[in-house]
Amino acid sequence: MYNLLKGKKGIIFGALDENSIAWKTAERVHQEGGTFVLTNAPIAMRMGQIQELADKTGSEIIPADATSAEDLENLITKSMEILGGKIDFVLHSIGMSVNVRKGRHYTDQNYDFTTKGWDVSAVSFHKVMQTLYKQDAMNEWGSIVALTYMAAQRTFPDYNDMADNKAYLESIARSFGYFFGKDKNVRVNTISQSPTPTTAGQGVKGFGGFIAYAEKMSPLGNATAQDCADYTVTLFSDLTKKVTMQNLFHDGGFSNTGVSMEVIERFED
Ligand SMILES: NC(=O)c1ccc[n+]([C@@H]2O[C@H](COP(=O)([O-])OP(=O)(O)OC[C@H]3O[C@@H](n4cnc5c(N)ncnc54)[C@H](O)[C@@H]3O)[C@@H](O)[C@H]2O)c1
Repeated sequence: MYNLLKGKKGIIFGALDENSIAWKTAERVHQEGGTFVLTNAPIAMRMGQIQELADKTGSEIIPADATSAEDLENLITKSMEILGGKIDFVLHSIGMSVNVRKGRHYTDQNYDFTTKGWDVSAVSFHKVMQTLYKQDAMNEWGSIVALTYMAAQRTFPDYNDMADNKAYLESIARSFGYFFGKDKNVRVNTISQSPTPTTAGQGVKGFGGFIAYAEKMSPLGNATAQDCADYTVTLFSDLTKKVTMQNLFHDGGFSNTGVSMEVIERFED
């Protein structure tokens, strides 16, 4: 380990169980000397095993629904008290579509579900940043990262309305990144991650075929949750200070591959 995050303080959203990208990131940040508060929706506290992660990493947990301004204000105020100062890094690792959960096809959405989905998956990122911004809670040269998927740029039929939510999320990163950069020297980026076998990932219909296809299409193979944790650590470190307002593909090369030999071979007579 390299002590890349020694002395840095943060907030990590979205660790549900040991498969979660946020879980792996928390473990990795801890190894690199960072300290943090863990947070998740109150309901996830009951379902998840987050206490185990907190014990392992010497962290405190503050429940917060990321769609609630009141919960976020409380989270950020208390985190600064616990950590003893302003925040250096924030991971937004949150996504949920009610249409996907309830099996509603993209062409047959329930718009109450759609609204809930974009609030949780995209607008929550704005709410987190607006709360940090108004409380002047970020240290200069801090780093804010959210996780996204390439369905924001290209169509994957079963990704459903999450594709639109991710496009919205990526746009918020750019728009808020401008103001956070100008006013506070804080950077904001999204990581566009390979399909990953987590609770949220496996909620996508046909996930098994989808992840196997991506594996065959990516010259380096799919990026795992552990790989994503490593990459996120670099974005939280001082080695990436001038990277901001970017959507960074972390996918083993999938996004720039037209076709691979393995895929061609499967279609040859
Ligand atoms: N798994 C994949 O294939 C994949 C690929 C690319 C991007 N991502 C993104 O990575 C992020 C993390 O997902 P994951 O794959 O680790 O799955 P996960 O299911 O482990 O994590 C999703 C988290 O969102 C939390 N959440 C849901 N509603 C919330 C709310 N209202 N307030 C606060 N938290 C809430 C859940 O409790 C959970 O911890 C998501 O943004 C997801 O879209 C996942």
